[in-house]
Amino acid sequence: MSVYPIIMAQETFTHRDHLTYPYEERGLQFGDGVYEVIRIYHGEYYLLNEHVDRLYRSAEAVKIKITSTKEELTNLLIELLARNDMTTDGKLYLQITRGSAPRDHVFPVDVPANIYAYISDAPRNTTNLENGVSVITKRDVRWEYCYIKSLNLLPNVLAKQEAKEQGSYEAILHKDGMVTECSSSNVYLVKDGKIYTHPATYQILHGCVRMRIEQFAKDLSIPFHEEGFSIEDIPLADELFLSSSTSEIIPIVHVDSQQIANGKPGNVTRQLQEAYVEDAAIKERSMKH
Ligand SMILES: Cc1ncc(COP(=O)(O)O)c(C=O)c1O
Repeated sequence: MSVYPIIMAQETFTHRDHLTYPYEERGLQFGDGVYEVIRIYHGEYYLLNEHVDRLYRSAEAVKIKITSTKEELTNLLIELLARNDMTTDGKLYLQITRGSAPRDHVFPVDVPANIYAYISDAPRNTTNLENGVSVITKRDVRWEYCYIKSLNLLPNVLAKQEAKEQGSYEAILHKDGMVTECSSSNVYLVKDGKIYTHPATYQILHGCVRMRIEQFAKDLSIPFHEEGFSIEDIPLADELFLSSSTSEIIPIVHVDSQQIANGKPGNVTRQLQEAYVEDAAIKERSMKH
């Protein structure tokens, strides 16, 4: 794994060893910030504009002012890859907080936002993509504004940790039995050739990959219903799968140790995976390097 030494901080570039962070920082003390994780294939971003758009929506929702325009920020992110000579599969982490100020719940006045972004390697998990994963189910105890990609991730962290401790990959979250999403991904059920997933309300993160899946389904003439399903529907599913920028589209073959259908990834999931690889130009990009 390479270390990519150049990071973008406060809209300029610096070596990662030179970045110091104050202890009175609103992201650290209140989780008062928003973030994005963007996929990189062979040194190029996938769905960059979609992620940048969501970042600005999240920042606006929590009243954090980003001084650069979307175009300026996009150019900085592209430059970050070039400065690090990035050519492999990886991911970018970017966060913006309300800035550094003496600790007080009330917003500080005239304090600039803190922004930084860095990249790391993230090879595709071909074993999970091929064979599928097991997941657990957990009550969704998060707040009401899950469409904001905020730094407050404690419920997500706890759910994912419990999944890990039970030998599973993810946790499907539900509110009063209705499935919302997973701790760090969106989730879908397939029944009789139709895809069902929670509507893009305030209760889930509007995934960039989810947005593409909706389009893939349309292109493949697979009905895509933004209609919630319940925990009780899961054992009756023909297929289940999850999506995120780092995971892509992963089949779910066991839920709480119960097998889904024949325990193998299904046909609809496979078609969407193929559409994803094509859309992200993964094979094409690999041939360039
Ligand atoms: C809670 C949650 N839902 C869904 C997603 C999927 O979003 P995206 O497809 O934009 O990566 C993520 C990604 O990190 C997430 O944290």
